[in-house]
Amino acid sequence: MSYDMRPAGGRLGVLLPGMGAVATTFIAGVEAVKAGRGKPIGSLTQMGTIRLGPRTDGRNPLVKELVPLADIEDLVFAGWDIFGEDAYASARRAGVLETALLDDLRPELEQIRPMPAVFDRRYVKKLDGPNVKGGRTWMEKARALIDDIERFKRANDLDRCVMVWCASTEIFLSPKPVHETIEAFELGLLENDPDIAPSMVYCYAAIKTGTPFANGAPNLTCDIPALVELARREGVPIAGKDFKTGQTLMKTILAPGFKARLLGLNGWFSTNILGNRDGEVLDDPSSFKTKEESKLGVLEHILQPDRHPDLYGEIHHKVRINYYPPRGDNKEGWDNIDIFGWLNMPMQIKIDFLCRDSILAAPIVLDLALFLDLAQRSGMKGVQEWLSFYFKSPQVAEGLYPEHDLFTQHIKLMNTLRHLKGETLITHLGLEYYE
Ligand SMILES: NC(=O)c1ccc[n+]([C@@H]2O[C@H](COP(=O)([O-])OP(=O)(O)OC[C@H]3O[C@@H](n4cnc5c(N)ncnc54)[C@H](O)[C@@H]3O)[C@@H](O)[C@H]2O)c1
Repeated sequence: MSYDMRPAGGRLGVLLPGMGAVATTFIAGVEAVKAGRGKPIGSLTQMGTIRLGPRTDGRNPLVKELVPLADIEDLVFAGWDIFGEDAYASARRAGVLETALLDDLRPELEQIRPMPAVFDRRYVKKLDGPNVKGGRTWMEKARALIDDIERFKRANDLDRCVMVWCASTEIFLSPKPVHETIEAFELGLLENDPDIAPSMVYCYAAIKTGTPFANGAPNLTCDIPALVELARREGVPIAGKDFKTGQTLMKTILAPGFKARLLGLNGWFSTNILGNRDGEVLDDPSSFKTKEESKLGVLEHILQPDRHPDLYGEIHHKVRINYYPPRGDNKEGWDNIDIFGWLNMPMQIKIDFLCRDSILAAPIVLDLALFLDLAQRSGMKGVQEWLSFYFKSPQVAEGLYPEHDLFTQHIKLMNTLRHLKGETLITHLGLEYYE
């Protein structure tokens, strides 16, 4: 079977709640690639190839040659932020990309000024800013976002948009009755329910305007039955949570290797120093708890201690994030990994990853925007588990555990693309070559 995909004609609007380091590195990066000033390294939609058919066929097109993705020349950007500075000023403040490059891109970046945000300090305690929407209730604010989206589409003559949450991490929230059904949620919007977070209001506005939504932060946001159901009902793809970059990326590369070779693990201590605004927000224990939950889940799901008590029955897994301003966006993440082998003999692995957070996140924003648009045009709706490759804490159907192993996630993504085009799925069995 192959899906009836609408072609990617016309331009695609990319809406970004939160125009800080990640969002501006993404926008400036796309503009730089368009201007021939750099390569979209790390982006599977731009640089990835996909094998089709048996190895002997030699068919390895680019991913974007297999499926009809929007061209990056056709992307148009808009966003919201509690600070009113334009994308150039925000990118300069974030200090991720070189000033000379940003200066060259200044005319394009200065045109992108954030729209007033839906914000509530209870959800991000460390920040406050002037560029926020009025309105008495969440519902009024949701309608204002819907107006923003419709205005942006009209002004740019767009019929398709996607939204990727790049705003700060909100405080930890567990699911409540108001999140259970669409009716309870909409009543909560009207009655200003304190358990509705600003990110949920953005997601609601996205779904109501037929805009696919991805959540780049670990907040609950669309991982609630009400919004999952609404997305299904309205035919809108959604995905989350928390971009998989830096330390968790390394963890989900290494842990599947230990598990495959049946090496034991009894400790994994991860600590980070980072000095950007994200680090400042995560300095608040309630925002850090949201991040911690997202980071801690991966090992247990990959290693499955219940099935391998001798190897993974007692793991001490600790994650620390320290706000250290001198580093800016150039995070340093240390991992000390205590493993053991044959006859329980202990060994250690040390990793010191001098990474650049937003440089790792920007290609993820691009791929999510393009793949969610593809999903929408292919008639896929609700939770898009095939995009779990990009997330620390993948959103999955109720009752399922998430698949964290990066390589399994990669196979899932590639096979979904093959499936969408009616190509044979690749099982890596390979016995046919020896028959
Ligand atoms: N950089 C990475 O590698 C990475 C990885 C995983 C997740 N994330 C998440 O992505 C998000 C963005 O990271 P960043 O480094 O760009 O942070 P940042 O602090 O530079 O940018 C976030 C922006 O969101 C704005 N904001 C906060 N609440 C808002 C709201 N309700 N509406 C609109 N704007 C709002 C802030 O003013 C800020 O400008 C964070 O939640 C972070 O945890 C980043």
